Amino acid sequence: MERKVVMEAGQSADAGLDTPASSEESLRARLARGELPRHVAIIMDGNGRWAESRGLPRIAGHRAGIASAKEIVELCRELGVQVLTMFAFSSENWQRPTHEVRELMHLLEQYLKQELPTMIRHEIRFRAIGRTGILPASVRRWITRVETETAEYKQMTLNLALNYGGRAEIVDAVSALCTDLLAGRLSLPQLTEPMLAQYLSTGGLPDPDLIIRTSGEYRISNFLLWQAAYAELYFTKTLWPDFHRRELLLALIDYQRRERRFGRVQKPAGRSWL
Ligand code: FPP
Repeated sequence: MERKVVMEAGQSADAGLDTPASSEESLRARLARGELPRHVAIIMDGNGRWAESRGLPRIAGHRAGIASAKEIVELCRELGVQVLTMFAFSSENWQRPTHEVRELMHLLEQYLKQELPTMIRHEIRFRAIGRTGILPASVRRWITRVETETAEYKQMTLNLALNYGGRAEIVDAVSALCTDLLAGRLSLPQLTEPMLAQYLSTGGLPDPDLIIRTSGEYRISNFLLWQAAYAELYFTKTLWPDFHRRELLLALIDYQRRERRFGRVQKPAGRSWL
């Protein structure tokens, strides 16, 4: 076994951690003692239930979800997380009612417009991952603009997964790789795991160290299937719009308690072998 049993905030070994008395500052001080994940990936779930429990339309939950996303991007940038990947729209999400999909696309466009100045100010490189070619043209234009204007930034990479599916991503990678093989740009003995990883949408980035899923669902849902091979998984019942800075700090502190052995007996000294 490579992973310890997954724990939730509030049910962790340190039962005293998630109390109203544990301020953001005390959590941050505690976090500073350990190593941060280089790459955090998040399945943001529970917007609909958050809204419905308040008698609001689902779109109100998505709006509140965007506010949480902004907070989490900001905190990751402040802490020095190198890569943050957020699952905003899966390839299955098209099956939602047409008006919800339309409103989600509108929110996404607004998000890109509003956040471009923040990304520039904080030197965050933005990338959309997934089969983005079928998104509405106005959304695609904003994706291109934000990707282009932030392309040189190095402080943090923010990947937004849009019309994303992990299996489709692997198929696309294999297809591109076969094209290179057939064209003679690559030979079969060169085909290794790191080589295939280069063809994924996350090529060149570290794999996620920590994957968080909110709302009490215990699934990966076709998210970063290849890249998740050694990720620590953190599940919380908190609905995404209620996931704020404290909740992320609790997840990061929980991550720091895990012993990552990657199938070995002892923890490797460095991470470069990964
Ligand atoms: C999950 O809740 C939410 C989505 C699939 C929609 C997209 C996410 C956001 C709007 C948040 C942040 C977005 C950006 C662009 C940064 P759900 O609707 O599946 O909730 P439910 O499971 O309770 O129905």
